[in-house]
Amino acid sequence: MEWWKKTIVYECYPKSFCDTKDQGSGTIKGITSKLDYLKSLGVGAIWITPVYSSPMVDNGYDVADYYAIDPQYGDMADMDELIGEAKKRDIRIVMDLVFNHSSDKCAWFIESASSRDNPKADWYVWRDPKEDGSAPSNWRALFGGSAWKWCEARKQYYLHSFAAEQPDLNWENKEVRKALYDVANFWVDKGIGGFRVDAISYIKKPEVFLDGEVDGADGLADLNKIGRNKEGILDFLKEFRKEVREGKDIFLVGETNSVDVKQLKKWVGEDGVFDMVIEFTHISPEFRNNEKWCEPEEWTLKDLKRNIISFQYAINDEGWLPIYFENHDKPRLVSHYFRDDIDKKKAAKLMAVLQMCLRGTPFIYQGQEIGMSNVAYEDINDYDDISSYTQYELALAEGYSKQEALAGVHNFSRDNCRTPMQWDDGEFAGFSKAKPWLAVNDNYKEVNVKRQEEDPSSVLNFYRELSKFRQKHKALIEGRFRSYEDESDEVFIFDRTDEEETIRILLNFMDYEVKIDPKYEEDMDLLLCSEEDHEKGRLKPLEALLIVKYR
Ligand code: NOJ
Repeated sequence: MEWWKKTIVYECYPKSFCDTKDQGSGTIKGITSKLDYLKSLGVGAIWITPVYSSPMVDNGYDVADYYAIDPQYGDMADMDELIGEAKKRDIRIVMDLVFNHSSDKCAWFIESASSRDNPKADWYVWRDPKEDGSAPSNWRALFGGSAWKWCEARKQYYLHSFAAEQPDLNWENKEVRKALYDVANFWVDKGIGGFRVDAISYIKKPEVFLDGEVDGADGLADLNKIGRNKEGILDFLKEFRKEVREGKDIFLVGETNSVDVKQLKKWVGEDGVFDMVIEFTHISPEFRNNEKWCEPEEWTLKDLKRNIISFQYAINDEGWLPIYFENHDKPRLVSHYFRDDIDKKKAAKLMAVLQMCLRGTPFIYQGQEIGMSNVAYEDINDYDDISSYTQYELALAEGYSKQEALAGVHNFSRDNCRTPMQWDDGEFAGFSKAKPWLAVNDNYKEVNVKRQEEDPSSVLNFYRELSKFRQKHKALIEGRFRSYEDESDEVFIFDRTDEEETIRILLNFMDYEVKIDPKYEEDMDLLLCSEEDHEKGRLKPLEALLIVKYR
């Protein structure tokens, strides 16, 4: 079995991880300084979100130079050092490839925007206005507003699926594709372990842009409903795989918003284009129909389980997935999936068991291993994330009060996961000696790495235990998945079975005791429990239990 199926991936958001320059934002050397800490979690690969040179409109997802490190993070020598030091510890570095778009400050775009007849004129998605001079289509960009921006020099619009400063690259152009593969191979040659491929669902554009159905007060149509995973995308990606992946010991994980179970084989099966694809539905159970932060839908455990279960069965025979409950775009899991009055330590442990026991590669997001939770800044101006502002404005335009709009931001802002890592209880949580770019979560005196290192019952030590446990029990890595009580809104019960054993995982998501059918524990031995003891036939509030039957 490939190394990346057996290991644990840690997602690092460098800006908030560890600052070695006393500048209030993290550095590459900061990551290097924490490699032993990451090793203690059993991490075999670190995915770092973009550290390329960038104006940081979207914190690095707007790349100005794919071959250079942004000075705020350090330089190429720091990057080489990180890759080398990680390798010594048997950890590989995974880079983020932002290939749907670049920054508008990228030399490619500057040239492309300068005239209609320069050599890179066709490197981005340029279109003439409609007859009345308005944008070519009514698409709303993912960060709000029209997805088109006017360029005076060319007297044309360019497409930006995200912010206006993130123009979309034109994948139809062979030279563009070649330039992107060259970028990827430059990093492969540095000895990295793989790529997380950003926003890849959006690379295929229609020849003619048609208007979509208006679905907001701004008179625009959601690009997500019209512009994702278009026919022909897999041809691009097959070529990408051939040029970048074939014959190399790396993995590719695609951010493939909206690939459903039925299509999965084409994306990650034996002839698939990626090694893993990021599944989205379980991470946003409240946004099944739209992503409006003030309009979350009600959901229950059954809704959360439904997609997890169908994807788990789908990859029993073919394909693979990252297993994740947090990333840099989502709220903290203890705040997201549980009410505020629920014991966060127990909730964090319960979710740790779920994550480490499902089939797939666990992707732990920084701070998750100590149970970090959401923030709630009082003023919208205390936020940094571009989408927090656009969601806030959208909510106001739709008639929500400032208070309601801010509540939406509190619940779903991407900054919830981007607050500085809480290393200790000193000033700025030991993240930096200078005032951080984003305020530290107030709870850092209670929730921090140092304190948890010293507490055998901490979330951190529980993660470490589970990680060792997963290595010891092959069934948790290679075993088949089978679930029970799929309709239950209280418990999640499933097995992982290989030729040696069946491990049964029983999770009570409720804050009250739940009885379980004795048949689930018949002839099974206790392996691990998140509580001090387990009483047969019942699960304590938020209890996570692992039992085993040897074959
Ligand atoms: C997905 C990334 O995870 C997110 O942070 C970014 O804003 C968009 N893609 C655009 O690159």
